[in-house]
Amino acid sequence: MSTSPGFGRDDGGRLWVESLPLDEVAERFGTPCYVYSRAAIESRWQRYRSALGTDGDVCYAVKANGTLALLNLLARHGAGFDIVSGGELERVLRAGGDPARVVFSGVGKGSEEIRRALRAGIRCFNVESAAELERIAGIADAEGRPAPVALRVNPDVNPETHPYIATGLAQSKFGIALEEAEALYQQAAADPRLQVRGIACHIGSQLLSVAPLSEAAGRLAALARRLQGQGIALDHIDAGGGLGVHYVDEQPPSPAEHIEAVTAPLRDLGVAVLVEPGRAIVAEAGVLLTRIEYLKHNGGKEFAIVDAGMTDYLRPALYDAPHTLEAVAPTQAECRPVDVVGPVCESADTFARDYPLPAAPGGVLAIRSAGAYGAVMASQYNARPRPPEVLVDGSRSHLIRRRETLDELMAGEALLAEE
Ligand code: LLP
Repeated sequence: MSTSPGFGRDDGGRLWVESLPLDEVAERFGTPCYVYSRAAIESRWQRYRSALGTDGDVCYAVKANGTLALLNLLARHGAGFDIVSGGELERVLRAGGDPARVVFSGVGKGSEEIRRALRAGIRCFNVESAAELERIAGIADAEGRPAPVALRVNPDVNPETHPYIATGLAQSKFGIALEEAEALYQQAAADPRLQVRGIACHIGSQLLSVAPLSEAAGRLAALARRLQGQGIALDHIDAGGGLGVHYVDEQPPSPAEHIEAVTAPLRDLGVAVLVEPGRAIVAEAGVLLTRIEYLKHNGGKEFAIVDAGMTDYLRPALYDAPHTLEAVAPTQAECRPVDVVGPVCESADTFARDYPLPAAPGGVLAIRSAGAYGAVMASQYNARPRPPEVLVDGSRSHLIRRRETLDELMAGEALLAEE
């Protein structure tokens, strides 16, 4: 069993989140249910904050988990935010985040999203193409205020991660090729509608080595020197996110190692360093609780059918992502290999195959490290209401998002008007 801050097992075999046993949390809020440890989030946040020092900014990637209470917690600790949509901007603002600490990434920013972000006074647009730069300049002109921009360059570094979450290779849709960036910077620097602020990049996610991150930072440093040599002043370099976490047996580098890898190549440039960690702050701070509904045998295999599905937690179905699963309380059942599957009508709705578990009907399982890219990726497929989220702080539990109701699930729909 793994223990990460905020979670641990007592001598009697019960799994706890801070000062609460998870079986009690499951009883109180029902299953499926996401449970986060406040202390675990705060400890990961502090590790980033103290590693980066005062002349940089940690811009938490909202896409990893954008629940308002969580954003508010980070905002109260002085977080900056990395957003990818007008919706994420709205979440940050409603959670009390400072717009001047917001960077706006993403390949397909809409005009309305750009306008809103410009009006809100964000720190920087991380621009992903020449066409987007032109659109931003046009909107800035119409709004009568110059737009702060960085180009998100594509350093063409292999992050050695799952292909679905690798973003820094030459053939990916993300970023602007390094060779094209320089001419675009000159164009932007000469454009009064734009204010060049920095350089940005993000090469991928769940990285288990910092080598690709420091290689990418080295390429950004070389570009920064060329730009500075041409008289283009830079305020910051945004090295993106991407640090991996522990799911089963990974040994990810620490936040301090991540920060050292990206800041070392940038040190003598005289610019602030931004990072955009998402997963590394929240993944290990959360679990998804799910109850075993039935056991069944098919084709020589035993299945534990649980009440969470790919609609609640998509990563195993989408990426074949491995996770640690644990019974939250001791049972008499014998530990044996089972396939843990959800109720959704898709074979991909599988959390684990041949996984050793003391499975018994009614037993509650914790799917560990589910705090990132969990609740945010939930859907309503099969007309399944999305699960609640609970933040535990010591012995107190806060329902930070209640379970969706069927009325909410169907809100916004309309029957055909009578002919
Ligand atoms: N910045 C940018 C521009 C990004 O695209 C991402 C993630 C991040 C920061 C945060 O990366 P992190 O520190 O969390 O690795 N749904 C996938 C992950 C997709 C990540 C996309 N971009 C998963 O569940 O593994």
